[in-house]
Amino acid sequence: MNKIFRFLALSGLVFFQTTLLAKPLYKDASAAIEARVEDLLSRMTLHEKVMQLNQYVHGTNMNLHNIGKIDDHYPLEAGSYIYYSQDPEMRNELQKKIIKETRLGIPAIFAHDVTHGFRTIYPMPIAQAASGNPVLVEQTCAMAAKESRLSGTDWTFSPMLDVARDPRWGRITETFGEDPHMNSIFGVATVKGYQGDDISSTERIAACLKHFVGYGATQGGRDYRQADISDNDLWNIHLKPFKACVDAGAATLMSAFNDINGIPCTSNRNILTDILRNRWNFSGATISDWASVSQLKDYQATVATYSEAAIRSLLAGIDIDMCSGCYSSTLDSLANINAVPIDRINEAVRSVLRLKFRLGIFDRPFTTETKREKRLMTPENIAIAERLAEESMVLLKNNNNALPLTQHKIAVIGPAATDRRIMYGEWFSHGDVNDAQTLLEGITHEFESQTEISFAKGCDFDGNDRSGFPEAIETARNADIVILCMGERGNWSCENNSRAEISIPQIQRDLIKELSATKKPLVLVLTNGRPVVLTEIEPMLDAIIEIWQPGIRGGNALAGILSGRVNPSGKLPVTFPRSAAQIPLYYSSRRGARFSPHGDYKDIPSNPLYEFGHGLGYSCFEYGNIKSDKIHLNKDDELTLSIDVRNSGDKDGKEIVHWFVTDPISSVVRPFKELKHFEKKEIKAGDKQTFTFKINPIRDLSFMDNNGNLILESGDFIISVKDKKLKINLE
Ligand code: BGC
Repeated sequence: MNKIFRFLALSGLVFFQTTLLAKPLYKDASAAIEARVEDLLSRMTLHEKVMQLNQYVHGTNMNLHNIGKIDDHYPLEAGSYIYYSQDPEMRNELQKKIIKETRLGIPAIFAHDVTHGFRTIYPMPIAQAASGNPVLVEQTCAMAAKESRLSGTDWTFSPMLDVARDPRWGRITETFGEDPHMNSIFGVATVKGYQGDDISSTERIAACLKHFVGYGATQGGRDYRQADISDNDLWNIHLKPFKACVDAGAATLMSAFNDINGIPCTSNRNILTDILRNRWNFSGATISDWASVSQLKDYQATVATYSEAAIRSLLAGIDIDMCSGCYSSTLDSLANINAVPIDRINEAVRSVLRLKFRLGIFDRPFTTETKREKRLMTPENIAIAERLAEESMVLLKNNNNALPLTQHKIAVIGPAATDRRIMYGEWFSHGDVNDAQTLLEGITHEFESQTEISFAKGCDFDGNDRSGFPEAIETARNADIVILCMGERGNWSCENNSRAEISIPQIQRDLIKELSATKKPLVLVLTNGRPVVLTEIEPMLDAIIEIWQPGIRGGNALAGILSGRVNPSGKLPVTFPRSAAQIPLYYSSRRGARFSPHGDYKDIPSNPLYEFGHGLGYSCFEYGNIKSDKIHLNKDDELTLSIDVRNSGDKDGKEIVHWFVTDPISSVVRPFKELKHFEKKEIKAGDKQTFTFKINPIRDLSFMDNNGNLILESGDFIISVKDKKLKINLE
């Protein structure tokens, strides 16, 4: 009796300890992530599961005076929030509430569009690509990740991998340009910079690949339009960077707004499940773009109800509904009547929970509250922003060595010289425009001790007011050289900012014409987010520097180039057309039929004003011949190519070497040439560097057929670097 009693008492104690007192497995930091996910999932109600699949906005906008409050309209069970604050306090307050007041205490993720810096703002992505320096971009993204995570943001919606070939599209500035390989390399660098080896680190954040897929091909460059993409282009151009970044371990991915062949990407099972999950084994979380689930009904009109919109998106493969409210308002009841399978809901919830465990949010839900000076705009961070700006500026023209400047009297003219806003472009997160150094401040800082600097605005970016022209002309007359700071306003590119006319506006062109009558040398400093048409004014200019939207220390970077302290080293990641009528115009078009393979116009030339890869410097780089360790290879071999580049100038400089591959005969029409490798190296004056490219046939000589199968055809291939060529043979 006694024994039985003791046995029962003991079993009761064990039961009490293991089930009632013991920490649930999902709260055990030492358990494996998958076990924690399954344990938590098994404890969740349907409603709790559905709420994990919703993202809400926390706070109102990024206006510093209006950062939002915690109020009752945030459902505490929501999976994630787009968070608008640059301090952790508000996040922690909400997270505390979530953990305390919800049944299972599942902490939320806080996300934000950190696309070129959090508070320290770097050049726009298109400029980053112009730097030709993915290592520097990775370091910069690591800095952005640190500022973000220390401030309470765990997840960014970047990199943007939309291959863009239409400069009328405002979002071209957020891309890495027109080439799929370049987008892949910079995309991977960005993912690595944000995520490092371990996204649970207090200095790393989760990346999000966007917009899957084809948004860059939006028709006519008008935002949110349909994208008409051939299977050939889909596989060989638009999907490529996404595949590279999925392979690099990106944690999340966002669908695109556009449709492909009539199927909106938000509800496109072929791309979101068949390709992304089944072919590529993507194991991260997927999210819709902003309200794009409800847009299936409201705009694209492929469904009649929000319930249908939710069903289509979820079944296609969208795990998280960004801010449309369709999932939260319909999925519970749909699952209850079996209109959506619970297995698919479970699968989506697993993705979200897995992301939270990977980010370490369960084990460390709060962000340590630190002083802003400790985590934002550190000297190290500002220094890297300046370096990236220096490397991303592109010297497009430099007749008679107009630059670097040697004159004693410099006139700075134009609306961009004193405008802080143009330095940041758009999506500048928590950047404060007042932190940005203007171009005039940079120039003054660089030159004032030995040079006389005068300034006249001359005109605004647009409009018809010519009242500033006389002062500008007088200022130019009294100077030895004129630096024209012109281009686009800071908000003329980015989302919903397409432009039909991509010349710089008439008023600025008129001022340039009048200034050219002074016969003073004219240097145009261009600030813009897209390729612009310069054909009319280009002959009047002695030098042109494309500085894009260069970020917080763009002024210093430009001034360094003007003075010669910095040797320009950027190269164009996009083609600059002569006329908007040439669009689309990009270097890697497929071969045409008959005698004019590029397709001619009878009234204007067919070639661009500045081609992809163009960019000058103050050194003179001489290229040797391409050498190879062998000429024949088979598909499992590798072959090493090399080229010597000598700096025969008297300034140290950096050179980007682009390696292109041409397939002279192939079973399908292929591009004239395709970029397969690039590298930037410093070459001291009088010195030489050897650049190499190791060819892997499967990676570098193949193409994809219309069903996404990799095809490798034997025969000759031409490798080219500038005008140097070498034929190799695949057996
Ligand atoms: C954009 C996305 C962005 C999202 C959240 C959308 O309008 O297309 O690129 O990440 O908003 O801000």
